[in-house]
Amino acid sequence: MNVEVKSEVTPVAWKGDWASGEVEMIDQRRLPGEEILHTWTTCPEVAESIRAMIIRGAPAIGVAAAYGVVLGVRRTIQEGRAALSDLPAIVDTLSNTRPTAVNLFWALRRMEALARAEAQLAEANPEAFAARLLDEAKAIHDEDIANNLSMGRHGAALFPEGARVLTHCNTGALATGDYGTALGVIRTAHAQGRVSMVYADETRPYLQGARLTCWELKKDQVPTTLITDSMAAHFMQRGEVDLVIVGTDRTVANGDVANKIGTYGLAVLCKHHGIPFYVAAPLSTVDLDTPTGDAITIEERSAREVTHVGSYAIAPEGIEVRHPAFDVTPAELVTAIITEGGVARAPYSESLRALKIQAPG
Ligand code: MRU
Repeated sequence: MNVEVKSEVTPVAWKGDWASGEVEMIDQRRLPGEEILHTWTTCPEVAESIRAMIIRGAPAIGVAAAYGVVLGVRRTIQEGRAALSDLPAIVDTLSNTRPTAVNLFWALRRMEALARAEAQLAEANPEAFAARLLDEAKAIHDEDIANNLSMGRHGAALFPEGARVLTHCNTGALATGDYGTALGVIRTAHAQGRVSMVYADETRPYLQGARLTCWELKKDQVPTTLITDSMAAHFMQRGEVDLVIVGTDRTVANGDVANKIGTYGLAVLCKHHGIPFYVAAPLSTVDLDTPTGDAITIEERSAREVTHVGSYAIAPEGIEVRHPAFDVTPAELVTAIITEGGVARAPYSESLRALKIQAPG
């Protein structure tokens, strides 16, 4: 697949061939102030970059993990051991980074399945095997971009003329292979002249909206207004929001949606104000093995991300803190789920399954 779309920034890229190539990543912790690129040559470095949120966003984590598998297997081969011998440990290292976004586990399963299917090649010609693994990781990356473009087309059709749209967290090029999920839909709708304003929630406590979404939209010259999360209700009450669109880290069989903390509150507000609440979900984020949202593991992150903004303390030392990084929006609050295969509507247990079955691979 040859995918030509490129934003000004890609969160992750493989540079070079399988033998000496590197994984390049922009450090999302430092944006928008500094644009720092890291290059990784080992699997543990990639795992740590996911854990530390140098790279974040469900599809981007999946792509990074796929490249991490290539780096891990490459090291095994270059150290003269059987190509598949470290695979379980490599997959473990990458799995034990962040628990909620299902794309991570989806991409690792896909890489592992390919590796097992090519076991004969792994034994006979480890170099060709490693090159084959790299092709698969690149395919995961390219397909993600193509899927985002399709979601953009399906989702933009739901936007009224001159839409004032509110979004949460960062779901853009930085959170994916490129282009974005919910932000990709906004990009397409904007290119079609349908967007008059994007309200970007700042997204406490990690500020993905303020730091990353505003940075991406400003680069693309999309009209954008930054608001704090607690202002959303006010603008809805005043009739200044036509729709809300968010991404998801895991959408399960019944249509319950795990996404950045604060998403559930937005969906409740939308219900109260009669505003459509859309979710953009590539099918790699749809997890039919989990029946309902209460079975989703919600990542709890450090207290420091709540008590500090950068290095500045905004709460008294020693205060008790909770920090769930995600919440679950019940399916009944979701107007529609936009996938690359089309728009799913309730009952989601049927519509999502049908879309998954139709999906290639
Ligand atoms: O903690 P993060 O920044 O990885 O959370 C990201 C989100 O919640 C996004 O909304 C989600 O990954 C969907 S975006 C493509």
